Amino acid sequence: MCLPSTIAIDGPAAAGKSTIGYLLAQELGYIYFDTGSLYRAVTWAGLQRHCDLQDGAAMAKLAHSLSIEILRPEQNDGRYYTVMVDGMDVTWQLRGHEVDANVSIVSAHAPVRQSLLEHQRRIARKGHIVMVGRDIGSVVLPDADLKLYFEATPQERARRRWLELQQRGAHADIQELLSEIERRDALDQTRQASPLRKAADALVINTDVFTIIETYQRVLEIVRQHCKREPVQG
Ligand code: CDP
Repeated sequence: MCLPSTIAIDGPAAAGKSTIGYLLAQELGYIYFDTGSLYRAVTWAGLQRHCDLQDGAAMAKLAHSLSIEILRPEQNDGRYYTVMVDGMDVTWQLRGHEVDANVSIVSAHAPVRQSLLEHQRRIARKGHIVMVGRDIGSVVLPDADLKLYFEATPQERARRRWLELQQRGAHADIQELLSEIERRDALDQTRQASPLRKAADALVINTDVFTIIETYQRVLEIVRQHCKREPVQG
């Protein structure tokens, strides 16, 4: 089979990774794995337990002790997957404002990243996976068959997040969303451990001027072209 089996999609918040990654996984019959949900799950649990989120060792211990499961969605409420933490469905809690505001503090800790690395690689081992995150092509799966890096201006990404929240019936101020995105970008890009960075062999997709459908078609084209690049056997 010539289709890429492991597909890594990285990029900053709200660049379109999740939507396109999910559609692509559906089309190919692959697993869709949004790795941000792991960092969000640890952050949510830390907030629930009033942990010191700045304490990397304590947060890594917490990450290690949690049972985080990412399952196929069994509810039709717009979710792409269900996240269970210690047996509790926390899918929507992970998308809340408090987690948004704190997740980049938790994900900056090297011991936290280390403790989630094996979890990610274990799931990716069997292939047939679209994995979305910040460091998939650069650190988690450096040998991924296909690496994509999505980018868009902070203004466009804030607009998309605003629309997403509107659709869920939540109201937000677009300027506040923009500051939040810029703050999270800065933290994700400047941290010591696995900062958000384009892998040298990743294809960059700028999603500013394209609709979701146009971007998706472009990505499908890239996936199909990947077949043509495969060496002919025999
Ligand atoms: O959905 P959105 O793009 O806003 O965020 P996400 O993909 O759920 O990721 C939330 C946060 O987790 C990011 O801002 C990063 O700090 C962290 N993250 C990471 O460090 N490495 C990953 N592979 C995925 C997420």
